Amino acid sequence: MQRFTIPRDLYFGEDAVSYLKGVKGKKAIIVFGSERLVKDGTIGKVKEALKVAGIESVLFSGVEPDPSVETVMKGAKVMREENPDIIIGVGGGSPIDAAKAMWIFYEYPEFTFEEAAKPFNLPELRKKAIFIAIPTTSGTATEVTSFSVITDYSTGIKYPIADYNITPDVAILDTSLVQSMPKSLTANTGMDALAHAFEAYVSVVRNPITDALALKAIEMIGEDLIDSYNGCKKARENMHLAQCLAGMSFSNAILGIVHSIAHKTGKTLGIDHGLANAIYLSYVVEFNAKEVEKDYAKIGRTLKLKGNTDKEVVEELVKFIGQLRTSMNMPHTLKEYGISEEEFKLKIDSIAETAVADPCTGTNPRKIDVKEMKKLIEAIYYGRKVDF
Ligand SMILES: NC(=O)c1ccc[n+]([C@@H]2O[C@H](COP(=O)([O-])OP(=O)(O)OC[C@H]3O[C@@H](n4cnc5c(N)ncnc54)[C@H](O)[C@@H]3O)[C@@H](O)[C@H]2O)c1
Ligand SMILES: [Fe+2]
Repeated sequence: MQRFTIPRDLYFGEDAVSYLKGVKGKKAIIVFGSERLVKDGTIGKVKEALKVAGIESVLFSGVEPDPSVETVMKGAKVMREENPDIIIGVGGGSPIDAAKAMWIFYEYPEFTFEEAAKPFNLPELRKKAIFIAIPTTSGTATEVTSFSVITDYSTGIKYPIADYNITPDVAILDTSLVQSMPKSLTANTGMDALAHAFEAYVSVVRNPITDALALKAIEMIGEDLIDSYNGCKKARENMHLAQCLAGMSFSNAILGIVHSIAHKTGKTLGIDHGLANAIYLSYVVEFNAKEVEKDYAKIGRTLKLKGNTDKEVVEELVKFIGQLRTSMNMPHTLKEYGISEEEFKLKIDSIAETAVADPCTGTNPRKIDVKEMKKLIEAIYYGRKVDF
């Protein structure tokens, strides 16, 4: 038996936030990151809509990018004091992920972070509150996923909490909220979404539902990412939906080693999640092609890439990812990103070891050990062809 879980309701389009005017409840806690959302009126809009519904709001702000265990525990404490019956995460992946994790420790104060970090180990949620997610970036799709990525700042390691219990109840994809994204954020989050769809499409636990969502997401991202990067309003609207399709796919098919490496290099090498995925994806396609060349060729043909054989199409696919990076002014290697050889050599052994142990490695289509992982990460650093 297999399972496919997504939020019950998705509201999308311009002004989708107005859905909140009809929501049922007593008190909502709105969790967000920067004051930008207060200044640009987003938080005001959410509060106004809740007021129409007769719901009181309290705010929890200041969630940092790549949220920490401490922030999560602080937010959970505020929730226990305020007792909300609705939790609303607003912002990029970081504040929404933090709000999802706070939800766990709000409902189960005795639960530890270590227990929560064990995959699919959470007790039943929704005893105290439901969860509504309002993303302002187009990439992580945390509004529809069963994941929350929290960083242990003492080690720099990111822990993906994975459990269908934390899949939000409602996702609000208000396309007016993503128009303000700067170019680099549009590029990084868009490539994160592309990596999600690629990894879901070749995962060992993929199924026809996740395949359909992943392929459609890849087609839309291929058509709209560059225009979205260049500020086209319609393309940004399309990207907001495309990343959501990728999210519904990977939340159920899980991911692969692009994400395993990104999780272990984010804090350690100081590289943004989406940018890390943008760099790693083409090298991982070369590595995995030994096992799933046919599937990558299908992705390539969906993107209308040329080639007479599967091998030729996959070669074009690797080039296509590189062209996306060039078009969006992204580096092609970790060296080009600016990591010194000295730092890289110092950290590669522990990155390789922890990346192999990451939960996303288990669903990658080609098995990998620490020695090969090290070779792969070296290829990513120096820009070498992956031919092993
Ligand atoms: N839960 C999941 O399924 C999942 C999937 C992939 C990644 N992640 C995690 O999500 C995090 C990354 O999230 P992210 O890439 O959305 O970025 P983010 O939430 O970390 O935000 C990055 C920056 O962008 C700003 N920002 C957000 N929306 C904006 C807008 N509309 N206009 C202008 N600025 C805006 C934020 O204030 C912040 O400074 C990482 O921790 C990553 O590991 C989670
Ligand atoms: Fe991601």
